[in-house]
Amino acid sequence: MDSPTTPMISRRDALIVGAATAAAVSASNATPASAQPAPASPAAASAAGGFRTKLSLNVNGTARALDVDTRTTLLDALREHLQLTGTKKGCDHGQCGACTVIVDGRRINSCLTLAVMHEGAQVTTIEGLGTPQNMHPMQAAFVRHDGYQCGYCTPGQICSAVAVIDEVRRGIPSHVSADLTARPILSAEELRERMSGNICRCGAYSNIVEAITEVAGSKA
Ligand code: FES
Ligand code: FES
Repeated sequence: MDSPTTPMISRRDALIVGAATAAAVSASNATPASAQPAPASPAAASAAGGFRTKLSLNVNGTARALDVDTRTTLLDALREHLQLTGTKKGCDHGQCGACTVIVDGRRINSCLTLAVMHEGAQVTTIEGLGTPQNMHPMQAAFVRHDGYQCGYCTPGQICSAVAVIDEVRRGIPSHVSADLTARPILSAEELRERMSGNICRCGAYSNIVEAITEVAGSKA
């Protein structure tokens, strides 16, 4: 609580002070304009081939060669260059998990990483887990338990769930693991924590949990 002698500062005053401080710091750190290199136009540099690179990935067991702009995310490389559109773009900011793929055995948000950072990597997308005729056990469990409604989040949910079970099998603790040295058990709390980066706007969570629990149980 404020003491009677504490000067009261309104939120508006605080914002003004903060903005002024940021401007002052920015000005003091600024390099003189004359010392800055002329900004290159990305379009001009790209047209000149300056930002392109060749890249090799192993995607779903097949070697793929790409020639991409170095700013291409792994998500766009998969969707736009390799036409693997099973991986979805939701937020494109690392907040929804729709773009989850498995790279060298670890799940990642493919919208948050550049393709060029994964030269030679083994990438598994939803297309590589199974097919409609030969589904991965996790895909089959999602169907059985009705773990989706619109299906947009589903590829990311399934890739994430497959990786979660592997994380537990390898003894990797999560934020809610009480004992960091004990082998984790995929309790409901652990499962919800580990899948918390995968958002389902349709709210199919209870069925998703059932599907993952079934697969985890059959593997335990
Ligand atoms: Fe990557 Fe949302 S699209 S986290
Ligand atoms: Fe629609 Fe998850 S099933 S967003």
